[in-house]
Amino acid sequence: MFDNNTSGQSGISKIANQVNGKKYLYWRLQWSDDSGKRKCKNFPRTGEGMARAIEFRDHLCSSIKSDDSIVARIAATTAVAEVLSGTGLDLSLDLSRSIMSTPAPPLAPSGKCVSEFHGSIGISLWRGTAGQQIRHNGLTTTDPERTPAEALRRFDVCRQRRGTNLMYFASDNSGPVHPHILQALTQANTGYAMSYGADTQMETLRDTLREVFEAPEAAVYLVATGTAANALALATLSQPYQTVFCSDVAHIHEDECNAPEFYSGGAKLTLVPCGNKMTAQGLRKAIETEETRGVHGPQRGPVAISQVTERGSVYSLEELRALTAVAAEFGLPVHLDGARFANAMVALDCTAAEMSWKAGVDVVSFGGTKNGCMGVEAVIFFDPKHAWEFELRRKRGAHLFSKNRYLAAQMLAYLQQDLWLDNAQRANGNSAYLAEGLRQAGAEFLHRPEANMIFASLPRASHQRAFDAGASYHLWDAPLQGPGDERIGARFVCDWSISREQIDQFLALI
Ligand SMILES: Cc1ncc(COP(=O)(O)O)c(C=O)c1O
Repeated sequence: MFDNNTSGQSGISKIANQVNGKKYLYWRLQWSDDSGKRKCKNFPRTGEGMARAIEFRDHLCSSIKSDDSIVARIAATTAVAEVLSGTGLDLSLDLSRSIMSTPAPPLAPSGKCVSEFHGSIGISLWRGTAGQQIRHNGLTTTDPERTPAEALRRFDVCRQRRGTNLMYFASDNSGPVHPHILQALTQANTGYAMSYGADTQMETLRDTLREVFEAPEAAVYLVATGTAANALALATLSQPYQTVFCSDVAHIHEDECNAPEFYSGGAKLTLVPCGNKMTAQGLRKAIETEETRGVHGPQRGPVAISQVTERGSVYSLEELRALTAVAAEFGLPVHLDGARFANAMVALDCTAAEMSWKAGVDVVSFGGTKNGCMGVEAVIFFDPKHAWEFELRRKRGAHLFSKNRYLAAQMLAYLQQDLWLDNAQRANGNSAYLAEGLRQAGAEFLHRPEANMIFASLPRASHQRAFDAGASYHLWDAPLQGPGDERIGARFVCDWSISREQIDQFLALI
């Protein structure tokens, strides 16, 4: 079995000696030969170096006794590495994959069973500075199931461990849990409580959310992810033969791996072309176009709206009402993806009721995780007739937590003393401060920043300086390498925990 931690250690010392005090970046291709012997080869960290690494990898792939799926997995991993190379991340990143033949172990011509070959082949990005101890990021290559997304998640953890999480604008999922939430979890962690949502904290929370939303009849449930909240809520509102209307950049379309389709048992999504905010006119056109093919086509289903949108915009109450009015015309229910509900509410300076049922929304995914919780989202149906079906779907979908009290405790602490609104104010305030700094630095905004997310373009050279100094955010439409004066879009997200110092530090660089 090949473990990259070990190989990483030996690789590191070699690099440190080589660089002699200078920053040194390169691509490392590492693999095991048929006898399990570890091997590696370094390439310059340039586009050409990557191309050579890929060429060499392909050569290896054809020479080792592996099946097509393995080669495909390696290629997928490398594709992620390529994307990441464009971000200029300051880290050691290993996206190697195990090579294991699954499920059938074909016999290689040598007579060796391929499935016994536990090697790795992958491309890593390393950065080293002599005298500085560079730790391998702890990814092992013996896990055949590791996906690029998992590797990325681990990489995030690794960055934080290495203390490089300054100027962090990559996501509002990346920040810490608010101390009040942690405190509430500790307090909840005494004694015993009824399981599966029958705990007293849940009861209190239900009442609190009903009060917050001015909806005494509302059915309130908790899940741990926004994807679960969205997918289960939409599944409850739709039939497998229906279609959900949403924006063409909706999280449910772009970032949920078809969970709504999966949980609804096959309902599809009809995308309303808009690139950010749907208009009533665009929505009407999309709805009119569907259900025109009788039994052959999808039937009209719910309308899904994201508030804040995936591009950092906020629908005004008027815009929301215009969309829900179109849905109502066709008798369609409305779902609101409120992963950033508090951020939108603070931006609009309105009440939760005004931004939901009073505006014609039937069910809300009410986010907590991005705004200070550890991992909890509420699903709120304003018409309790959906309650039982949602409960069944949540259980069947494996999202009914036995120790629900820990979800309830988080959400309760989130709502108490207006923590949710304070955090959102802070996040939006940080974002506004950053946006103003960006504007003064000559940034061009791709969308008007209205909550805690900014899409703006800067000359590539500015991004390069920022990344070199350790900033973290997502480049949106081009790699980091290339002409310095070319403008590149980027996404910046602020959560409640970002400090003004971090923002100033970043602004001084660009
Ligand atoms: C608009 C939107 N909806 C939902 C989610 C929640 O997704 P997750 O399943 O990652 O909690 C996110 C998170 O990025 C989001 O941006």
